[in-house]
Amino acid sequence: MSTLSTTALAGRTIAVTGAARGIGAGITEAILAAGGNAVLLDLDEAAAGETAQQLDPGGAHTLAFAADVTDPVSLDRAVEATTSRFGRLSGWVNNAGIVRMGPAETISPEAWTGELGVNALGVFLGAQAAFRAFDGAGGAIVNIASNAGKVGFPNMAAYNASKAAVINLTRSLAAEWADRGINVNAVCPGSVATPMLHQVAEELARDGKGDAGTLFAGMVPGQLGRHVTPPEVGEVVAFLLSDAATIIRGQAINVDGGETPY
Ligand SMILES: NC(=O)c1ccc[n+]([C@@H]2O[C@H](COP(=O)([O-])OP(=O)(O)OC[C@H]3O[C@@H](n4cnc5c(N)ncnc54)[C@H](O)[C@@H]3O)[C@@H](O)[C@H]2O)c1
Repeated sequence: MSTLSTTALAGRTIAVTGAARGIGAGITEAILAAGGNAVLLDLDEAAAGETAQQLDPGGAHTLAFAADVTDPVSLDRAVEATTSRFGRLSGWVNNAGIVRMGPAETISPEAWTGELGVNALGVFLGAQAAFRAFDGAGGAIVNIASNAGKVGFPNMAAYNASKAAVINLTRSLAAEWADRGINVNAVCPGSVATPMLHQVAEELARDGKGDAGTLFAGMVPGQLGRHVTPPEVGEVVAFLLSDAATIIRGQAINVDGGETPY
């Protein structure tokens, strides 16, 4: 249940990449609860459409499109189709991301480039698409980084590097686009109960680190004592998209239930 005002994002249209499931679906839910329109972008168009249908059964406040964050043409195409339905976009959430677990010494150049391609370049291309979509009238961008971008966990070197890039890209764009009326922030989730976290547990189990179910159950922030949920992350993102967050700029805010003290 959202505690943010039901009008915090009224009259706003916000694109969310990787919105078909997991944290992206939770962000979409929070945007709708705050009175905004949501544009669900995902590689998996059918799944994005199903998520939109579940969260907004009449379809009055959502659109779903196939888009690949590494392909700016697909992002611009979706923006164009959105504008004719809802008008100008004024918010963008770069959420799509991937992770591949494994020892640093075995990561191939292709695997490194692939992971940074989606997680770092994809966020940059999404921010550029947002800049074009805002059409000189300003807006808010929220990037989904990770506490991995601050901590540097074992067995995910490329992921850690990609998320550190997102954190500093957030600072760079906040400084560079402030005079364009664009506010840019990031959030850093820890362990959120999503298909990605199950995948992490399964890949660690594959590498002999334990049983997947036990590993998943153990990925819980100690202070909170349970997994963080996607709508909880979504609510913070919705706040950062709102006018109430105008004084928060270029930050990378932990939403990890206390997993990371810095
Ligand atoms: N789950 C966690 O514990 C956790 C923790 C920290 C950060 N994050 C970050 O949060 C974001 C969402 O994670 P999640 O757990 O919901 O992941 P998920 O794997 O459950 O969902 C990711 C979604 O992104 C889509 N996607 C992947 N590549 C894409 C691309 N190139 N273009 C468009 N869509 C694409 C997928 O189809 C999927 O629907 C990611 O950036 C992830 O790194 C997750």
